[in-house]
Amino acid sequence: MTVQNDRIQNQSLQSRVVSPEQAASWIEDGMTLGLSGFTRAGDVKAVPFALVERAKEEEFKVNVFTGASLGSDIDALFAEAGIVHKRLPFQADPTMRKSINNGDMFFVDQHLSHTAELVRAGVMGPIDFAIVEAIAVKEDGMIIPTTSVGNSSLFAMHADNIIVEINMAQTPLLEGVHDIYDTGRQGERGPIPLTTARDRIGTAGIQVDPEKIRGIVFTEQEDSPSTIVQPDDETQVMAGHLLDFLRNEIKAGRFDETLAPLQSGIGSVANAVLHGMIDSEFEHLEVYSEVLQDAVFDLIDAGKVDFASCCSITLSDEKMKKVFGSFEQYRDKLIMRPQEISNHPEIIRRLGLISVNTALEFDIYGNVNSTHVSGMKMMNGIGGSGDFARNARLAIFVTKSTAKGGNISSIVPFATHIDHTEHDVDVVVTEQGYADLRGLAPRERVPLIIENCAHPDYKEQLWAYYQEALERGGQTPHVLEKAFSWHQNLAQNGTMKLEKNTAAVR
Ligand code: COA
Repeated sequence: MTVQNDRIQNQSLQSRVVSPEQAASWIEDGMTLGLSGFTRAGDVKAVPFALVERAKEEEFKVNVFTGASLGSDIDALFAEAGIVHKRLPFQADPTMRKSINNGDMFFVDQHLSHTAELVRAGVMGPIDFAIVEAIAVKEDGMIIPTTSVGNSSLFAMHADNIIVEINMAQTPLLEGVHDIYDTGRQGERGPIPLTTARDRIGTAGIQVDPEKIRGIVFTEQEDSPSTIVQPDDETQVMAGHLLDFLRNEIKAGRFDETLAPLQSGIGSVANAVLHGMIDSEFEHLEVYSEVLQDAVFDLIDAGKVDFASCCSITLSDEKMKKVFGSFEQYRDKLIMRPQEISNHPEIIRRLGLISVNTALEFDIYGNVNSTHVSGMKMMNGIGGSGDFARNARLAIFVTKSTAKGGNISSIVPFATHIDHTEHDVDVVVTEQGYADLRGLAPRERVPLIIENCAHPDYKEQLWAYYQEALERGGQTPHVLEKAFSWHQNLAQNGTMKLEKNTAAVR
């Protein structure tokens, strides 16, 4: 790899270019690494691979903190190499998921806006090395990130040492899109001066003491494409229900056609639902989100979205080529911020976001499980969904009404793990319809959820459970000994449907 000095504008840093192997050799057993990377975007790619290679020769373990999930199979390789002691705040890799659920490593499932506060307060110990992907290092040592900001600025500012990976495959046109703002310590800070999704409040890069930059590595590898499945018939129907709900909000005088800044979570379902807005009457939309997936760029292309604020851009292969191949078309419509700012409760509440995230399951009272399959096995993590749900003007959760060929009902008597309580959930949407839960008591929510959202195969079962629960009374009636019986049936018989094992559930 040729060293390009225009990418390292600080002359004294030009001599610090090293190989990934050399940089990886500085990392010691027990250290904590703060890696750039958020939902497969802007992750460091060379030093992690070198670390995995090193693990073939010697035993060591490190703590791995990131923005969110990593691409390039890094989480899988880390898990296979067995070098992770503790991982936070999010991951989405099947191999690492297995290691976590086997108890081979620790995983801290953290609200994505919280990591910054905990690091800043020193709660999780020092960050020994921040390793961040960059477009360039400026003369004053300012690091210009690539396709995500995530926690990169936080790690770089608070780490003892920094390794920069300059990725020549990332478009230099990204420079100027970032807006890096440091809130400062809790108890000592003023209001964050951001009042619209378009506001710039910080600097174009991460301001660090150049002396902390211990090494610079050159790479040339694109981000991993997203793994989302493109919209299908069911998700289109779901999008239709969500649009109907929003139209009714306009009729009620709570919004006009520009709605409010939109946040849409990760995954195929959230992407598809946003995609459904392309043929709608909504216009001049703004996005204030964490990740921008394909749908946001489709909406920009369709002239529906005027502006999007995010902390990462994660696209399918085809979309990545189109967007980064003609980035001059998009760059003045985008701002990329640290995840602490994209997910900050103060801003989310101030802007009055409409927030759309995905549930694995929700219960008849509106408690949402986004993370734990059958209450025990970690899927990905809560990500930013809690940051948004608790603070948004409208917290909307979407999911298909069934999973695994209809053997799982996503609407259950009692959610087996609750990420978003009934107090934080405004609207739930499935392909069957939507239930607007705002202002309703638990007993008022049940008929709406069962009738509007549950799959016909499971309605009768849900009603039977609720009728029995009503006999026990309470603000939130339950039959405690049967509350998880559907999940038990699933574990024992491979289905939540009663006819396969009537005795166990009734
Ligand atoms: N029980 C067990 N498995 C379930 C399930 C349930 N109730 N509901 C869905 N699944 C399975 C699906 O079958 C699918 O499995 P597969 O990968 O083996 O095919 C998988 O979960 C993903 O479901 P899918 O319907 O494709 O949805 P998705 O891609 O939109 O992902 C979440 C859904 C919940 C996993 C994902 O949105 C997530 O991790 N959310 C939490 C983080 C978050 O919301 N962040 C938002 C801020 S960015």
